[in-house]
Amino acid sequence: MASVTVAKSAGFCFGVGRAVKLVQDLVADGAKVCTLGPIIHNPQMVKKLSKQGVRIASDPSDRREGETMVIRSHGVSRAVYDEVTRGAFADATCPYVSNIHRIVEEAACAGHTILIAGDKNHPEVQGIAGRAGESCFVYADEEELLEIVRNNPDFGQKWITAVCQTTYNSSKWKKCQKTLKKVCTNLKIFDTICKATSTRQQEAEELSVSCDVILVIGGKHSSNTAKLRDVCFTHCPRTYLLESADDLTPDMIEGADNIGVTAGASTPSEIIKEVLLAMSEIQNTTENVEVEETVEKSFDEMTFEEALEASLNSLNTDQKVKGTVLAVNSTEIQVDIGRKQTGFIPYREYSNDANVDLTKEVKVGDVLDLIVMRTNDQEGTITLSKRRFDAIAGWDKIVEAKESGAILNGTVTEINKGGVVVNCEGVRVFVPASQATAVRMDSLDFMKGTDVRFRILEINRGRRAVGSIRSVLRDERKENEAKFFETAEVGQVMTGTVVALTAYGAFVDLGGVRGMVHISELSWKRIKHPSEVVNVGDTIEVFIKAIDAEKGRVSLGYRKPEDNPSTIFANNYSVGSVVDVTIVSMTDYGAFARILDGVEGLIHVSQIADHRIEKPQDVLKVGDTVQAKIIDIVNDGKKTRISLSMKALLEPSEASDDEGETVEE
Ligand code: F3S
Repeated sequence: MASVTVAKSAGFCFGVGRAVKLVQDLVADGAKVCTLGPIIHNPQMVKKLSKQGVRIASDPSDRREGETMVIRSHGVSRAVYDEVTRGAFADATCPYVSNIHRIVEEAACAGHTILIAGDKNHPEVQGIAGRAGESCFVYADEEELLEIVRNNPDFGQKWITAVCQTTYNSSKWKKCQKTLKKVCTNLKIFDTICKATSTRQQEAEELSVSCDVILVIGGKHSSNTAKLRDVCFTHCPRTYLLESADDLTPDMIEGADNIGVTAGASTPSEIIKEVLLAMSEIQNTTENVEVEETVEKSFDEMTFEEALEASLNSLNTDQKVKGTVLAVNSTEIQVDIGRKQTGFIPYREYSNDANVDLTKEVKVGDVLDLIVMRTNDQEGTITLSKRRFDAIAGWDKIVEAKESGAILNGTVTEINKGGVVVNCEGVRVFVPASQATAVRMDSLDFMKGTDVRFRILEINRGRRAVGSIRSVLRDERKENEAKFFETAEVGQVMTGTVVALTAYGAFVDLGGVRGMVHISELSWKRIKHPSEVVNVGDTIEVFIKAIDAEKGRVSLGYRKPEDNPSTIFANNYSVGSVVDVTIVSMTDYGAFARILDGVEGLIHVSQIADHRIEKPQDVLKVGDTVQAKIIDIVNDGKKTRISLSMKALLEPSEASDDEGETVEE
């Protein structure tokens, strides 16, 4: 006796079952129904529906009066959809296919070129291509893909979005993806093979390895059935494609010890049963337990409601599930949660971050923790939320942190009137403005997008948490201060950031500790305000002039000794040097002239001209540049007085006898 194994995935897939059910429901409701093309690739089922009055329309204009036109699970192009929806219609497009429509329509809007792996004559592919705009290519395999690339050498520069037919062969798709990655730089690949298809193909392949005969049941024009046959034939040369029990002949199973049975997505369960029965009759093995059990478990044996219920099982709103990412675009993520339904995470349900880019955050194959928000039985979809899962898990951490006083990490996602909102583990924590920074700031805009550390101050019943960043900053500051005063030394050179300016100096942050540079220490010149030398935000090099650890004060120097103009003067000038000077001010007894920045001398009124003048203004005015000779330098240990003479250059012999006045420098 041969043992017979029926693949668990054999028969109607979710999308096909849903389409057939939709037509049957319409008929049961008394509607006149036409389907836009055969509802499924199975002549027996089409015939059965035809007996119930369901007519096949050849195109959207072929709708008779009073008829409801059904779009089948393959979906249609945008143009056809627009035409169909002008009259009574029902849309049985499989949600997996609708998802591909969404992907290509968005990509086409963004100016991408669309590449579709699939059979260009298949209605599903035609529907997808009919939504992909003008820059769209369809290829059957890697060879055709390479041909397209050869004919379009600019692919390397273009933005490409690649999808595939839901029933595309998974190993071929892997090869195509490799090639795409080699030739395209700006590429987004969406793995749009339907899991029902890949599971079915994988199961069939596994079966074909261990069986000596494989029976593939399905319509001869069904592409997924043909693919199943191809997959099995590679390992099992005795693979036969049957449309119904009538096609089964004794020689097909003669001498076989292990017979495997699988069926295409459009094959009704009664046809599978008929084949099994015919086989049992041939072998007289109707008691084959393995067959009975497998068929009983088959999804196709159930009514739609039963199947839905079975697949949803104990799936309740707010239930926690794990989902594997199947596809991602900028507006939603499609996940597999191990059910027949398609799981979707809408953009707003991914995270609290209003700026998150899903395509950068998530990749196909990632496993996400999710919460079920709602199930849509009509569409066969389940809406899920990662944001809510994170919030629930995060809330527990927030409560714990409140009790323990632990420091939490988060990102500032919003700035509002009262303060900032920090996203921590998916929970929105409000931080009032008074608790957002170490010192009160006029604007908190700079905080948006920054990572912060904070403590929880308060939790209220409405699951609202209030935090404090300031409390952590203060602790950090104290720690830094302690470390600083332990190691800092007078004379030590440090780099700091100017954080505030006052009339008497500049405050510099040295990494948690603030020091002050007095205005007199900023420049060797006389300045009226620190802003003449430094600005808030500048990074400057300073040296420690004095430390008062008890009071927590640090005095800093900024101007460098080597820039001291008195030193420069002493090293480069002496009595007798002739210098170009600028008149900066005048009195009755003489004019003050700048020799260097920070060094001035006096030209006494008697040293201005070679004749007697009443006052300096008779010859000079402020701003004049004149030549003068240094005729005296007096240094009393505190100040340097420099005397200049213009007359000495006019009457060198006489001028040398004159005594010049000196000025304090
Ligand atoms: Fe849909 Fe997958 Fe079937 S795409 S129609 S569930 S094979």
